[in-house]
Amino acid sequence: MTVRALIGLQWGDEGKGKVIDALSAKVDVVVRCQGGANAGHTVVVGGKKRVLRLVPSGILFPQVTGLIGNGVVVDPMQLVEEMQGLEAAGFQLGGRLFVSQRAHVVLPFHKELDAMAEDDRGGEKLGTTGRGIGPTYADKAARHGIHLGDFVHEEVFRPRFETQLALKNKTLVAAGRAPLDRDRLLDQLLPAARTLKPVVVDTFERLQQAVAQRREVWLEGAQGALLDIDHGTYPFVTSSSTHIGGLLSGAGLAPRQLDGVTGVAKAYVTRVGAGPFPTEETGAVGELIRSKGGEFGAVTGRPRRCGWLDLVALRYAIRLNGVDELTLTKADVLSGFDEVKVCVAYKIGGTESREFPSTAALGAIEPAYRSFKGWSGELADVRRFEDLPPALQTYIKFVESYLETPVTLVSTGPERGQIFRRGPA
Ligand code: GDP
Ligand code: IMO
Ligand code: MG
Repeated sequence: MTVRALIGLQWGDEGKGKVIDALSAKVDVVVRCQGGANAGHTVVVGGKKRVLRLVPSGILFPQVTGLIGNGVVVDPMQLVEEMQGLEAAGFQLGGRLFVSQRAHVVLPFHKELDAMAEDDRGGEKLGTTGRGIGPTYADKAARHGIHLGDFVHEEVFRPRFETQLALKNKTLVAAGRAPLDRDRLLDQLLPAARTLKPVVVDTFERLQQAVAQRREVWLEGAQGALLDIDHGTYPFVTSSSTHIGGLLSGAGLAPRQLDGVTGVAKAYVTRVGAGPFPTEETGAVGELIRSKGGEFGAVTGRPRRCGWLDLVALRYAIRLNGVDELTLTKADVLSGFDEVKVCVAYKIGGTESREFPSTAALGAIEPAYRSFKGWSGELADVRRFEDLPPALQTYIKFVESYLETPVTLVSTGPERGQIFRRGPA
């Protein structure tokens, strides 16, 4: 049995939810480690689409225990809504979904401050998801945050909440905004706290027990490597560590307990929100990828920016995370293109480089492309590498030789079953 992590290698929305779900038939524990309800992980089973925001994507299998780790920021009303939605659809969560007592709670003023920070940036907006993620992590670092374990004890929560609300209202009023009403907020928060109380536990102990019992465990990354607070395209990033170090810390696992890292990448690149995107196609090609791929945000519905696969950025993300196998998603979306391009180097001031530069330099680079013959036909039912169109096989072989990492899983559509693991070459 193994402990593995699944990490998005681009700017999020690589298909992490789909892949975790597809792998989960034989999995015991799936752990969300970082991020919050900014994540939208889509799972499609029998034509029924579900978007998971805080609950780990393996939860649709009844033997899976879902853990929401200490590194996650939890919007309590969102979590209750998600749990109730799953229960109403027939998924029993009792005794198999737990949240860390050390996870931080996203409070309504965090969302208000998120919106305010965006307004204050004027023309330099990040395009956040508006879920209060940045302000909650900022409070965590500033030691103003509130643990879920304290949130569910009203006598502990109330005074801390009142202190924080007074502080936040000062900021809001100074910025010319309306203060938030204590009683109105408590009317939403306290019932959510009562609902969540039975599931707030020490997830560290549960995870460590599962590892000691040699259970099959997956860490489910949220966002993507290029949105990482340290290694991503700062400041156009999220506020958590999306890389493997952040997952280990956010779950409570030591590096030596991890058996490997599976990276997920789309056969092209998307980005939602602002920031550099060297291979972005702003014209007809980008429009075609967006419409064929249904590239609209799972959380916000915003159109995703689309462009060609960027192997320079992907190689960076693979090295950063110690990825030992790759999952390629959405190659089916490119079916029907006469030509498919991949970026193999960045041209900076007359020289070509395979290094991923700073955000400012990224804006000035020009991608060097290699062109491939496109493929066509329906891929959804393909379950063997040898049955893929030869042009797609050539493309995948090039990707793995460039990245020096095997593409072991190929996803051929959004449905649970539309994926296969490659047999030995
Ligand atoms: P996540 O945030 O990484 O879980 O990804 P999202 O769920 O936000 O976005 C991925 C989208 O692509 C979802 O609509 C999935 O249903 C869909 N999807 C995932 N894998 C594939 C695939 O191989 N082919 C196609 N056509 N769609 C896919
Ligand atoms: P999943 O897990 C795609 C982006 C936002 C914005 C930036 C900061 O579904 O892949 P935030 O609300 O986190 O402060 O926004 O990060 N972003 C995502 N983009 N997928 C996600 O999650 C994202 N989570 C945050 O669009 O550009
Ligand atoms: Mg998503």
